[in-house]
Amino acid sequence: SPMELLQNGAPISTEFHYTGCEALKSAHPSALPASRGQTVLAVYLEDSAAKLRLTLLYGVLPTVFTRRAILENCGDTPVSIRKLMSTSTDIPGDWTLHTFSGGWIAEMQHTETPVTMARTCLESTTGASSSRANPGFLLAAPDAAETAGEVCGFNLLYSGSHYLSAQKSLQGLTRVMHGISPANFNWELAPGERFETPEAVMAWSDAGFGGITDCFGRYVNEALIPPYWKNRPRPIVYNSWEGCMFDFTEAKLLRLGKLAKQLGCELFVLDDGWFGKRDSDTSSLGDYSVNTKKLPNGLKGLGEKLNAMGLQFGLWFEPESVSPDSELYRRHPDWALHDSLGRTDLLGRHQLLLDLTKPEVRDYIVESVGGILDSAPISYVKWDCNRKISDPGSPWLDACHQGNLSIDYVRGYESILDTLAAEFPAVTFQACSSGGGRADYGTMRRHHEFWTSDNTDACERVFMQWGIGHLFPAITMAAHVTASPNHQTGRVTPLKFRFDVAMSGRLGFELQPRDMTKEEVEFSKRALAEYKRIRPVVQFGDLYRLSSPYESRVAALMYVHEKRAVVFAWLMDKWLADSPPPLRLKGLNPAARYLVREINLDENGPLANVHERVLGGDYLMDFGIRINWKNAFQSVCMEVTEMVR
Ligand code: DGJ
Repeated sequence: SPMELLQNGAPISTEFHYTGCEALKSAHPSALPASRGQTVLAVYLEDSAAKLRLTLLYGVLPTVFTRRAILENCGDTPVSIRKLMSTSTDIPGDWTLHTFSGGWIAEMQHTETPVTMARTCLESTTGASSSRANPGFLLAAPDAAETAGEVCGFNLLYSGSHYLSAQKSLQGLTRVMHGISPANFNWELAPGERFETPEAVMAWSDAGFGGITDCFGRYVNEALIPPYWKNRPRPIVYNSWEGCMFDFTEAKLLRLGKLAKQLGCELFVLDDGWFGKRDSDTSSLGDYSVNTKKLPNGLKGLGEKLNAMGLQFGLWFEPESVSPDSELYRRHPDWALHDSLGRTDLLGRHQLLLDLTKPEVRDYIVESVGGILDSAPISYVKWDCNRKISDPGSPWLDACHQGNLSIDYVRGYESILDTLAAEFPAVTFQACSSGGGRADYGTMRRHHEFWTSDNTDACERVFMQWGIGHLFPAITMAAHVTASPNHQTGRVTPLKFRFDVAMSGRLGFELQPRDMTKEEVEFSKRALAEYKRIRPVVQFGDLYRLSSPYESRVAALMYVHEKRAVVFAWLMDKWLADSPPPLRLKGLNPAARYLVREINLDENGPLANVHERVLGGDYLMDFGIRINWKNAFQSVCMEVTEMVR
């Protein structure tokens, strides 16, 4: 059942009757985030015995529709909500469930599970949307393919613990339920109060997986990402983390900034380690006072010098966590979440979570982050969160509201971000949670991109980025070129391969330029300059998937924007057969002629048989391109430009 309620500790049944409906003239005055620009139909229902009113809101947008439920207690006895889904949908036919889950350093793995009479359920119970169970998923008909067949897409505007289940009935209906996870959830609904579920987003296409990608891509750009950021190209980021970790001084950062600028980077992000006495991850979270030993001229001094070099300045924060070894924790131990039975706190990465249900905590975070943003020329915030709710217990909530914690925590986080985003509309907020643990539609209302994964191994990124592309446009996906051997996996890949993978998202760079050879510096300069040219195509184009890394050693996709396309192809393992199948392009005008040019060439020269040739769109799509593949981790990046007649 999509709803489970208790009254006086005992389960109660419900029977709702239709009482009316209306098309709302303006946005519903909702307490929760909603997609922008929807036309909403409100359907009113009542259960007179249970004295409950249920409002179902159905929203329509050009490529998706939405649904949420609002439950109101009209009686004089409190009701406990144990479960209330955002949507429960029955769909006839056979379906396969496609999910994009994984874990830390293995986010967004595409998995397929046939829907049967045994219920399949995917759930996050960590208080965050999590890398283990992403709230976005698809249902595909048996004959669905990349460009044909029925596919339904589902997502949730929620960054907390969530739940999805799919189960086929004897009558052949598949029931999909999607909403807040019932784990640790027990909401006390007092007489006169209302409870709203997060908004569920649904899409349908008979143009296959590509059709759903199109629906979701347009939806995220039009209805989620803040309007200020629409059509604004995202800068190339240099991030200090993999190059410096906690070990830096202003002089060292400025040297790094100078080299990053020479390479072509546009925004310098100072990651962890700039505050309190944080030289490792064991202390100081919560104490956002600048470490003047490392940064004698403060953030203002550093930011102004970076600006003078022509770089924007960005900064890392982890505002929701607190280190037990911090001034903040010593002053306010009751500001952290603690086990409700008083057990010794479990630490995750040596830290605890702050109790965002408490107004003073939210005010502290807004004031400390806002104060820093006011104090220096900061145009980008990497908002990290490396802790999950493991011991539910809020010192602030009273005993009968402890079951609200996981939801009130998310609402607290959303209200902090709303306040900061309203105060600093031109600041980019990146969502990071130990990598991609907050890649969800809830965060996209306030954050404009997410850190895809702490795993920057280009080979593994191909799989993760493949998954992400089903739910998010490329502009939201931060993809950085890092060192080889890779820090996480030890895998060695050529610099060209690493660039060709990262350039298919929002490009960034984390290599230590000091460790690069002259040839690598030259290659990187050319690649960053090329990215600036192809940026509108990658960041604003439509995605077409050409060859899946799950099915072939060659993974390939392309973006098409106005009269240009950019094609990326990556060889994931050594090519063993004689003649690789042709790569057939998509999304071009069959009647137009295109100049095909391989870019990011290294010492091996062009690999495609059509480099610098002018060919018809029909030829490129029907016959395709042959690539002379040999060794694992070769790659091709091609610019395809329509010729003016
Ligand atoms: C976890 C993030 O995912 C990393 O990118 C980095 O910012 C570290 N935190 C810093 O502590």
